[in-house]
Amino acid sequence: MKKVYIETLGCQMNKSDTEKLYGMLDFLGYIEVNEPKDAFDADLLIINTCSIRQLSEDKAFSRIGTWGKWKEKNPDLKIVFCGCVAQAKGKEVFKRAHYVDLVMGTHNINEFPDLLKRIEHGEKVYANDETPVPERDIAQKRVKAVNAWIPITEGCDNFCTYCIVPYTRGRERSRDPQKIIAEVKQALKDGFKEVTLLGQNVDSYGKKGDYTDWNLARLLREINKIEGKFRIRFTTSYPTDITDELIQTVIDCDKVCEMFHIPMQSGSSVILKKMNRRYNREQYAEIVRKIREQVKDVAITSDFIVGFPSETEEQFEETLSVMRELELDYSNTASYSPREKTVAAKMVDEFIPDDVKEKRLEIINNQNKENCYKSNEKYVGREMEVLIDSFYERKGIKINTGRTRNNKIVHIPCEKDMTGEFVNVKINGLKTWYLKGELV
Ligand code: SAH
Ligand code: SF4
Ligand code: F3S
Repeated sequence: MKKVYIETLGCQMNKSDTEKLYGMLDFLGYIEVNEPKDAFDADLLIINTCSIRQLSEDKAFSRIGTWGKWKEKNPDLKIVFCGCVAQAKGKEVFKRAHYVDLVMGTHNINEFPDLLKRIEHGEKVYANDETPVPERDIAQKRVKAVNAWIPITEGCDNFCTYCIVPYTRGRERSRDPQKIIAEVKQALKDGFKEVTLLGQNVDSYGKKGDYTDWNLARLLREINKIEGKFRIRFTTSYPTDITDELIQTVIDCDKVCEMFHIPMQSGSSVILKKMNRRYNREQYAEIVRKIREQVKDVAITSDFIVGFPSETEEQFEETLSVMRELELDYSNTASYSPREKTVAAKMVDEFIPDDVKEKRLEIINNQNKENCYKSNEKYVGREMEVLIDSFYERKGIKINTGRTRNNKIVHIPCEKDMTGEFVNVKINGLKTWYLKGELV
């Protein structure tokens, strides 16, 4: 049997693609191995890359430098470079890493078995289509875990001016609802206890394409009807695509968890406009208020970018103040990184110096910490349901960790490994990033 290792960088979409690749490779007679340490530890090495920031792109190239050297020792070793950097950079990948055997963009993943055969015969292959190669019926080989990631939409048509995703993932498309439902059922049969419906903008599910009589609310209701005890989550939501119907669905469906990930990106309406986001500060705040008012114990998380070209000190302060005012439960933060092809990357004259960006990032990171702590504080003394997803030992103490319905991480000291179980926990302490609890 041939041995394969896949290194996955980037978001859940890439992780989901990696599962797809492992599924195909399993079928083709490959076995998955741990991270190789030497030229002969694997026959096939795949890097699934992310392009969201310059740093992620650089990481992809620096990572495979060692693999290239291994090829000098083991000429039979095959190297595949796929994912978002492959889609965005195309043939340039061969220039920077001549030892790569296959450059495969995100659109070509469904024809991977054919491409692999060609490189196995010694060909150098380039596959980077403008439009996606249609899906084939290939089972995912999910990493054994508690949560299964199920893509429902792919691509993005929003063209936020800073973002490369529309160029690396193509036009937005919704997957067949019956396929999604079948995948959920299979994951549950395989022992998963939670499914997360995945997409760049899950709340625009069905809007375009062949399934216009569907939307995210209907899909959630259908999945909620599937028997058994399990949880349903969805991410990411675009602020203005969150409908009253969707909020009501979260309230009505017992399996759908009380959490919304709704990236805001900036607290300044001027910057939001320059980012081509279709809402202003007040509209975003109104959505948050509405959800909080209706959904009990809901967690609302967000993403923010600091140092977008032309961002003034005052505009940055608006991001800081909105985080504080809205008491967001958690936020991913990043400093702006210019991306090829995007509109903002051309605003060179208005770029913010790196040291200013770093300073701003540090400030909002501190605000984020404060928000997290405050949000966690609300739950001390409460009893909550936790789905255990891992078990480990530290300094002689055995700990189960898991998540509440609203996605708070909880650490529970307990001798027995309860991975995959739903347990009731009394919250008795907190740290910035997690809660502490005991079984009741
Ligand atoms: N579809 C989601 C997010 C996808 S990308 C949405 O609309 O929000 C994930 C996050 O990466 C974004 O929310 C943004 O905060 C960050 N990001 C995207 N492009 C970036 C860039 N050029 N520089 C810094 N951060 C960026
Ligand atoms: Fe990028 Fe904007 Fe699309 Fe999100 S909505 S993936 S930030 S272009
Ligand atoms: Fe995801 Fe990075 Fe691509 S965030 S969609 S892997 S650019």
